[in-house]
Order: sequence, then C-alpha cells, then structure tokens
Amino acid sequence: MNPPLLTEKDIDPDLDLEAEIKRLRVEMNAVILAHYYQDSEIQDLADFVGDSLDLSRRAKETDADVIVFCGVRFMAEVATIFNPGKPVLLPDLKAGCSLEDSCPPEQFAAFKAKHPGHLVMSYINCSAEVKAQSDIIVTSTNAEALLRQIPESQPIIFAPDRYLGGYLKRKTGRDMVLWNGSCIVHEQFSERGLSQLMTQYPDAWVIAHPECPEALLGHADHIGSTSSLVNFTAKHPGETFIVLTEPGIIHQMEKASPGSTFYGAPGADGCVSCNNCSFMKLNTLEKLYLCMVNKSPRLELPRDLAEKARLPLERMLDMSAVVA
Ligand code: 13P
Ligand code: SF4
Repeated sequence: MNPPLLTEKDIDPDLDLEAEIKRLRVEMNAVILAHYYQDSEIQDLADFVGDSLDLSRRAKETDADVIVFCGVRFMAEVATIFNPGKPVLLPDLKAGCSLEDSCPPEQFAAFKAKHPGHLVMSYINCSAEVKAQSDIIVTSTNAEALLRQIPESQPIIFAPDRYLGGYLKRKTGRDMVLWNGSCIVHEQFSERGLSQLMTQYPDAWVIAHPECPEALLGHADHIGSTSSLVNFTAKHPGETFIVLTEPGIIHQMEKASPGSTFYGAPGADGCVSCNNCSFMKLNTLEKLYLCMVNKSPRLELPRDLAEKARLPLERMLDMSAVVA
C-alpha cells in the first residue's frame, strides 16, 4: 500500500523548503520549469523560467526523468503531450486559466461546425480537447509570424482570446472569425489608472501583453509576449516602465534591466491585486515541495486525446522553426 500523501500541516515549520526542493530535484532527476507569472521564490528555484513557447520547447527537449511544472494546467498538459508516460507534476491541479474556461470543447465543436472550410488556429491557452480540434497552435511569441504563413485565401477561426485575435487582425490586416474568450487579468486593467500613471511618469515606457484590450494597447510603446517584454526592458537599463501584464514578471525584469523602475498598471476601480493571476498564484513553495515529495498531483491525459492534441503543437514548432 502507498504511504498517505503529506499535506501542508505535515510540513515542519523549521524545514528549509528551498534546500529540500533542491535535494529532491537531484534525487528524482527532475527539471523544474516555471512561467514568469510565478512567485519570485519559485522562479529562483527553477531550472528554467520562460514564456509559453520556450517552456513547451524545454519540456519537449528535456532528458530529466520527471518534469515539475510551475505554471498553469494547460502548460503542464503540453509537457505531458510531448512526453507520453513521463511524470509531469503540477503543484496545484486547480491552476487553470480563464481563457481555457471561456472555451468549453463541446461549444467550440459546435462553433467550428458553423464555419466549415475554416482553418482553426488556437492560442496555446486552451484545453487539450480544444487543441485536439485545432489545426495549428500558436503562442503570443509566434502568432503573427505563423498567421502570415497561412495563404490569404484560407479562412481562419482564431480561438479563444478575442483580444489577441483582434490585435493580430489589426497587425496583419487579416480577417479572422474570433471566439469570444478573454484573460481575466489582462482584461481588467484600468485605462484611467494607466493614464494617471503615464501623467505621473511621463518618461516611462508603456509595455503590454497582447492579451490586453485594444484601448490599452493603444497606449503601449511595446507590445509582445512575456519574453519579448522582458527583452525590451533589458535593452533599456536604468529607465522607467509601466507594465501591463501579470506583475510576477517584474522579478525577471529587475534582473534583466539593472537600475530600472517598474510600475504594475492598476486594475479597475483601483484594485491593486486584480492584476495577479489567481490561477498562477495557486502554486506556492509549500505545494511545490509537496508535489515532489508525494509525486502528486500528476497531470495525465487519455492517450488518444494527447495524440490528437500533439499534431497542431508539432505543427506550431515546425512552422516556428521556419521563422526562427
Ligand atoms: P506568454 O508567456 O506566452 O506570453 O503568455 C502569457 C500567458 O498568458 C500565460 O498564461
Ligand atoms: Fe490564463 Fe490570464 Fe492567468 Fe495567463 S494570466 S494563465 S491567460 S488567466
């Protein structure tokens, strides 16, 4: 019989969690992958911190025996899809994503049926079931480049983020049918709060993730994926930035851009915590330690679903290699 799983109550308050996590990583031959929106203490323990595309590539290429994924569930699903049979641990299985939630697979199938002949391009922030119904997956890093590779005559459905889809339509002039989903974090930034910050810091660069609504993107000096935003700050050390994305990323920006000052854009009605992704923040140092000790929770997908979802992901990597 397996021993009972440890819980947070079982953790000795004097335990050096960081040291234990490092010890377990060696013992298990594990790799710890983390997204920029994780708490800084988790980022500092990770073997690699990156955006959705880089994390997918790392997960695909790793020779570790176990993948510990500090991000949200759809990211861990991608790691499982690329590594059938390999344990992929996620500190909290409830770490979902509002974009995934906004695109239920059955409703998406009905939507697709209403648009015969359309190629389905889906943002990686969706369930494995929606990926399995898609022709190509994209991330915020490669979406524009991959869209430009599709012949002009080919009608396209883009799902599930209507803001990223709208941004791509404006950027490329390409018409697409959009699914009506959104990210609760990027959708809620206050334009009025942003304007006040811009007045207060007139020399600040405004940098934004394309999951933000058009009105906010209209103020941005630079728009891009999380890694693109970090890279932009690295090119401007000692300057001031207003950041329109999840503030967990500021930890890497501070490392990449010495001497710079960062202001997270405020949420609606002055809410100061609404720009935190409540899904990402479900992962804590304690849960990271517990998932490694317990070897659970483990992300698992039915084999046939994983195989179907793998095809559009492989297509994404192949098409990205052409532009890289
Ligand atoms: P990227 O890190 O790929 O830019 O995506 C951001 C995001 O929404 C993660 O959930
Ligand atoms: Fe999903 Fe938005 Fe959180 Fe990213 S920030 S995981 S898109 S809810």
